[in-house]
Amino acid sequence: MRDFSRVEIDSILQRAEKLETFASKGSSNLLDGKILAMLFYEPSTRTRLSFETAMKRLGGETINMVSTEVSSAAKGEMLADTIKVVGEYADVIVLRHPKEGSARMSAEISGVPIINAGDGAGHHPTQTLLDLYTIKRESHLHNLNIALIGDLKYGRTVHSLAYALSLYDAKISMVSPEQLCIPIAIKEDLTKRGINIYETTKLEDVIEEADVIYVTRIQRERFPDIGEYQKVAGSYRVSLESLKHCKEDVIIMHPLPRVDEIDVDVDSTKHAKYFKQAFYGVPVRMAVLSLVLGCEA
Ligand code: NCD
Repeated sequence: MRDFSRVEIDSILQRAEKLETFASKGSSNLLDGKILAMLFYEPSTRTRLSFETAMKRLGGETINMVSTEVSSAAKGEMLADTIKVVGEYADVIVLRHPKEGSARMSAEISGVPIINAGDGAGHHPTQTLLDLYTIKRESHLHNLNIALIGDLKYGRTVHSLAYALSLYDAKISMVSPEQLCIPIAIKEDLTKRGINIYETTKLEDVIEEADVIYVTRIQRERFPDIGEYQKVAGSYRVSLESLKHCKEDVIIMHPLPRVDEIDVDVDSTKHAKYFKQAFYGVPVRMAVLSLVLGCEA
């Protein structure tokens, strides 16, 4: 996300808007004859399925590494070799891997485009693009006041989103337990970009002013010590009660999966946009795929 300009992001969002008509019904032959390889070394539901849907609804095909246990990763094959080989089969690769920097390394050695679908606790740029698309469609990007809540240390979605929001002059508040605040390197980068972040441990401090409340899951799997996870598990919960203090047109977002950060009672309110957000993954990933494959939308 660090490499994107605002003009580039805006053009992807516009492309997604054009393609949205193919996202839920109908189909197109824009990516006819193209093959997308899905390399997922970590669990995924939405990212994997929305990439596959995007590719197929645009007339392309997908090939899948079914699980790391039944692929050569289980025999100790290194990622670089897998990337080189799969690049001979496919026109583009989507990679999710537990190591930070794995997508960048892969992009350096790959003969075909690599799309980062999450590199450990690093980044998740296509999630950010769909988050921005959701904000644009369901709220507003101009003069945005957004609260990022939860695991800001290990949560890759918020890392990428914070960089992107810095291009939109958003007012960003960050709410997390002290142990899970945003990494210092990211904070310094954002400060260099002229963005001031308001940090707090209390949801009440930001909830009244926010246009968007972006909730995240505490990333249990990234904690070196489960005892440390247990200390912060369940720290925040957005409920019908919390909504009473919010703006009338506030929207609640979450990259999902949710554990217990948002009460299910909230789902039926007009503020809940997380399922819509998951749907927007399809047009946005259509836009990204068509762009990297050089196919005009
Ligand atoms: C996120 C991820 O994998 O980083 N999920 C997603 O892609 N929608 C968030 C999470 O796992 O908490």
